[in-house]
Amino acid sequence: MRAIVAGGDGFIGWPLSIAMAHAGFEVLILDNGVRRSLVKEVGSDSLVPILELDDRIRAWRSASPESPAIGFEPLDIASDAAALHQTLGRFAPDVVIHLATMPSAPYSMKNQRTAGFTISNNIQATFNILSAVADCAPDAHIVHIGTMGVYGYNVEHYALPEGYLRARVLAADGAEREISILHPMEPGSLYHLTKAQDQLFFEFYNRQRGLRITDLHQGIVWGMDTDLTRRDEGLATRLDYDSDFGTVLNRFAVQTAIGHPITVYGSGAQKRAFIHLRDSIRCLMLAIENPPGRGDRVRIFNQFTQILSVEEIAGIVASLGKAEMTQMPNPRVEKERNKLTAVNEGLIRLGLQPTLIDRFLVGEIVDVARRHKGRINHEVIKPMSFWQRPPK
Ligand SMILES: NC(=O)c1ccc[n+]([C@@H]2O[C@H](COP(=O)([O-])OP(=O)(O)OC[C@H]3O[C@@H](n4cnc5c(N)ncnc54)[C@H](O)[C@@H]3O)[C@@H](O)[C@H]2O)c1
Repeated sequence: MRAIVAGGDGFIGWPLSIAMAHAGFEVLILDNGVRRSLVKEVGSDSLVPILELDDRIRAWRSASPESPAIGFEPLDIASDAAALHQTLGRFAPDVVIHLATMPSAPYSMKNQRTAGFTISNNIQATFNILSAVADCAPDAHIVHIGTMGVYGYNVEHYALPEGYLRARVLAADGAEREISILHPMEPGSLYHLTKAQDQLFFEFYNRQRGLRITDLHQGIVWGMDTDLTRRDEGLATRLDYDSDFGTVLNRFAVQTAIGHPITVYGSGAQKRAFIHLRDSIRCLMLAIENPPGRGDRVRIFNQFTQILSVEEIAGIVASLGKAEMTQMPNPRVEKERNKLTAVNEGLIRLGLQPTLIDRFLVGEIVDVARRHKGRINHEVIKPMSFWQRPPK
């Protein structure tokens, strides 16, 4: 089986690429390295040192000589549609994993330039991948990671379903009929808005061009390794702690490690969905190994294992390092408390066995952060992006 991993140099893309190679896939990574440069642009860097992609691939070759070699083509998927078409035509993938996104909500809300980049990069990348698959590899299964954030967090009276909502409508004859529609979207940032827009592109290309697509509405990923990245330090994936690119639990673990107060935004009662990196990779593999049938509508799974409030997460992490919590004005525009509940049956049915947040796994992140604390820039820990800015 041949797989393209668009965004294969990223936090999730790299461990996924080696997991797929380990499972016998011939993997070709397409990435333009923009994640590395954007994190540097905000004054930060991966806390765990990571090799350049060519060197990572060589490290994988030495660690796992029995696996098929991983290929890499540097390519801007959003701006070079012609090269993407050529690559897909030549490589003839069975599966295309689309992770090539600017994934930070705060970065997308920082200013006009970062917002504009997010919109053009993410939407154009999705369109280019869909059109290249439709034209050059129409049998390939597309697997994309979306976000639980497309639904918004304000649903109170029901558990968020997996992508589609059953709705009762009044038919012309006065009878009630049940229809199934994409769940209404209420994105909380421009980044989330691009993921909401992706859903419409997927529905269109599925209906009009017959593409087989799985969209994984993922929660916030925590953790920093998998069994395979642990084989050699050259295989490490990135660990970000800055307020723009670090994910919340990982940021709190790094703050604890250096004795920095844990930065809870607003009340901390905002609930979010979470998943460990290992489970994220496992879910992707399950989706890849079990593609939807030809003619099926876009398949949507909610990819998370736990729902907790930010304050609950902060409490677990704080207890490991005796760090204090500090409540900061919320830089986001969101409800201070919500009653998030959601269904996550699809991936469990396919075989996911959830890894739950525990002190041992969180403690590992704290230990790694302590080892690398000399690399931390304290200036990037406080919020650097604000949803509402005073007028000039
Ligand atoms: N990490 C999370 O907590 C999380 C949660 C929900 C959803 N997601 C989604 O999962 C996917 C992967 O997330 P991640 O955390 O690994 O992000 P990441 O930024 O580490 O990975 C994305 C990769 O895509 C590359 N890329 C971006 N634009 C590109 C372009 N135009 N051309 C070529 N390469 C490009 C980047 O260089 C990067 O290596 C993203 O779509 C993200 O929105 C992530």
